[in-house]
Amino acid sequence: MRFSTLTALAAALPFTTAYWKGFNVGANNEDGTCKTTAQWTTAFNKLKTLPQDITSVRLYASSDCNTLALAVPAAISTNTKILVGVWTEDAAHYTAEKNALTAAIDAHGSAWIIAISVGSEDLYRGDTTASALAQQIYDVRGMVGALGVTTQVGHVDTWTAWVNDTNKAVITASDFIGLDSYPYFQNAAIGDAYNTFWDSVTATRNQVNAVSPGKWVWVTETGWPVSGPNYGAAVASVKNAQTYWRSVACATFQSTHVFWYAYQDYSASPSFGVFDESGNAIYDLYGC
Ligand SMILES: *[C@@H]1O[C@H](CO)[C@@H](O)[C@H](O)[C@H]1NC(C)=O
Repeated sequence: MRFSTLTALAAALPFTTAYWKGFNVGANNEDGTCKTTAQWTTAFNKLKTLPQDITSVRLYASSDCNTLALAVPAAISTNTKILVGVWTEDAAHYTAEKNALTAAIDAHGSAWIIAISVGSEDLYRGDTTASALAQQIYDVRGMVGALGVTTQVGHVDTWTAWVNDTNKAVITASDFIGLDSYPYFQNAAIGDAYNTFWDSVTATRNQVNAVSPGKWVWVTETGWPVSGPNYGAAVASVKNAQTYWRSVACATFQSTHVFWYAYQDYSASPSFGVFDESGNAIYDLYGC
């Protein structure tokens, strides 16, 4: 039967279109002010102009800059989905973050949520212990679960933190493993950057498979700066940023969820943004 053959074929296809192709978007404008809903809408619409038709974003916080209160309406109106961030430090901030997430779910349901990251690079900074962070991951999962939300709850950290045996409890607690990897900061020449990046993914996947087999490693931050200082053999330039996109983004989009760093970053050094001050893409991002 033709119909059933096609159905079986579709079911057998790899889920290459199912990966999130996202960008990290800061809540602050480059002048330090907080984005308004109109400015979130502009950012989300800009990302949709890229050849990849980007409709997923990672936001860092829930309460800071009223991020969720202002960004979720923009996400819903532009059909953009959000990897939510919940800061874990300090206790008062953590409570404010949880309250802001609860308020956003009360107001807008949860269809806009990709997943929730509890904390960001806390282990890399040495700001907390693995067991304390794991408890917060369980806490947030319980909180949203009580609201009827069964989204994945995990954590974002550097690959060096994930492969450290001291931090195994966070892998155990997480539904997904958010990996931040920057060959630029590892002094990698652009010609070596692809392999340096994949070495970090492989090392993290190996550790995750040893601790919690089957959990997915998502790339929650990677990118290459268009300008800024050199780190050893790593040179910041538009050409190298484009090369890194073409090699790393184009390959990684085919194998896992990716949130590129970053949407806009023109006042920073090094500067990782893909869009310049006028809101134009700084280099050709190709149709990969
Ligand atoms: C692993 O993490 C612990 C706790 O933060 C730290 O003391 C140790 O130096 C780390 N190990 C490595 C190899 O970085």
